[in-house]
Amino acid sequence: VVSTAALVPAAGRGDRLGAGIPKALQPVCGVPLLVHALRALLAAPSVALVAVAAPPGDVQRVRDLVAAHLGDPKPVLVVAGGPSRQASVAAALGVLPADVDVVVVHDAARAFAPADLVETVVAAVRAGADAVVPGLPVTDTIRRVGLDGRGLGTVDRADLRSVQTPQAFSRSVLEAGHAAAVDEETDDAALVERIGGRVVVVVGSDEAFKVTRPIDLVLAEALVRQRQETG
Ligand code: CTP
Ligand code: MG
Repeated sequence: VVSTAALVPAAGRGDRLGAGIPKALQPVCGVPLLVHALRALLAAPSVALVAVAAPPGDVQRVRDLVAAHLGDPKPVLVVAGGPSRQASVAAALGVLPADVDVVVVHDAARAFAPADLVETVVAAVRAGADAVVPGLPVTDTIRRVGLDGRGLGTVDRADLRSVQTPQAFSRSVLEAGHAAAVDEETDDAALVERIGGRVVVVVGSDEAFKVTRPIDLVLAEALVRQRQETG
């Protein structure tokens, strides 16, 4: 039997949110961000099990949250995350059962990504891709600046994409990417590319936005309320 697991890096501090608690525990409409993220992942039919990398001091608290909010029959493993996102993903990767052959990596901070985006990236890996990531065209004008703030020209944005999660990987390729890692990368697709893996970009979702700054909580609350109203 082979199966698909989802890894959720959720161990970050949320410094840019500035709420004084780990971002994954930040409530949105009364429910922690991490619980919103887990609901979406557990709703994806392909996902058989989830491994969460929790803030190191909050492992038991996250286990309690999972027990209180999620009555799902799918297993949710909780491990302590590391000092970087990459280390947190590696920690969660370390507890996967042997029969898992496809891995989804999904930021707790992108808690409102639709379940069908999970299915899209998983299906593309099952169809043979090493790594599949969602991306959206960049909407702002991007300009290079020197250290003195002087403008160094505008970047052509036609071939730029803002990359999101959920990202899906062949487990063996993702493990090889982590084993070969030298620098900290901001996502797992970058690790896979460093070892020569091919990364496919599919169309992302506005709803897969990352809760990063306080203004993002305004959008998150409005989105949850809108979903509640429309069922
Ligand atoms: N993450 C993690 N372990 C870390 C750092 C980050 O698991 N040591 C996770 C975060 O919990 C988040 C995702 O990686 O779900 C994306 O990171 P980011 O948006 O940067 O979250 P934080 O690091 O918490 O935020 P900040 O950088 O503002 O402190
Ligand atoms: Mg961070």
